[in-house]
Amino acid sequence: MRDFERESGVVRVAVIGGDGIGPEVVGAGMRVLEAATKDSSLELRFTEFPWGCQYYLEHGRMMPEDGLETLADFDAIYLGAVGWPTVPDHVSLWGLLLPIRRGFDQYVNLRPARLLRGVESPLANSGSLDVTVVRENTEGEYSDSGGRMFEGTPHEIVVQESIFTRRGVERIVRYAYEEAGRRRGSLIGATKSNGISITMPFFDEVFREIGEEYPNIEASLMHADSLAARLVLDPQSFDVVVGSNLLGDILSEVTAAVSGAIGIAPSANLNPERDYPSLFEPIHGSAPDIAGEGIANPSGAIWAGALLLDHLGYPEAGERVLNTLEETLASGVKTRDLGGSATTEEVTEDVIERLRSR
Ligand code: IPM
Ligand code: MN
Repeated sequence: MRDFERESGVVRVAVIGGDGIGPEVVGAGMRVLEAATKDSSLELRFTEFPWGCQYYLEHGRMMPEDGLETLADFDAIYLGAVGWPTVPDHVSLWGLLLPIRRGFDQYVNLRPARLLRGVESPLANSGSLDVTVVRENTEGEYSDSGGRMFEGTPHEIVVQESIFTRRGVERIVRYAYEEAGRRRGSLIGATKSNGISITMPFFDEVFREIGEEYPNIEASLMHADSLAARLVLDPQSFDVVVGSNLLGDILSEVTAAVSGAIGIAPSANLNPERDYPSLFEPIHGSAPDIAGEGIANPSGAIWAGALLLDHLGYPEAGERVLNTLEETLASGVKTRDLGGSATTEEVTEDVIERLRSR
């Protein structure tokens, strides 16, 4: 358990704005978090790091060699987005975000999606959509085990193995059962054991085994393809969904989309044991097409900030941030992706103003 210097109420947050709209939305998020904690016993201390694709072009690395050591001293990490057209995605992501998720054993990727007031779902039948995806975040299909032989020849061979460990599957599945217990008590395991015949049946087996410890949770397995379809056809029927790294990635983008827009959804990369700092980010990417225009939706970053407060032991402050964001959106102050006309700055200011007058 890390020592959060609770006595002094000081929480140190490392901020990596990253690329594209990343610095804009995370800048907005920092101001909101400051406003939300002003006059409270909690003092947030932000330290910004200029890591990302621009840094890569100058230094040949996405972050310094001792980047993880530097980050290890913080209580949490707040990240904007990673990726820019001049650097291949697998280079930028495997140079910054993915080493942090893995190096800090952030094996839970928690991705709540909820239809906030003032936001319209693209679905006609969305109802009161409120679903959380628990995504495995350190192994599975995201592995660097594999290789390429006879490159460029007609008999080229490319292999990338999925890695499923008992410890890895058990811990993510257990977290999901616990999460379902904190919510409405229902859990769906995303599988694909009809086609992927070795790793996925193993996932199913562990899902059922762990389920025996949670007789009060209504749990079942569902193939990820029909699960994706049901998320579109009947989204309000879901509570918690747990899935492997890849399945969880894809399904959480569906849940984000059906709850209004990718620009709203947050993502918490958690090391539940708190041996390392956890990382909070919006789900969306760096959006090069609108970077620097001041029109990016700061909601995902702001909601991610709420999750950060929650994880650090200030759930009331987190709830205040999310509720206030919802009030802002409900009042019609929202960015273009949500059908509004407000700028990033206008949304941010509105949230801050409401926090001040609360
Ligand atoms: C996400 C992103 C990343 C992932 C990419 C950029 C590597 O899609 O955080 O969901 O797949 O984990
Ligand atoms: Mn994704």
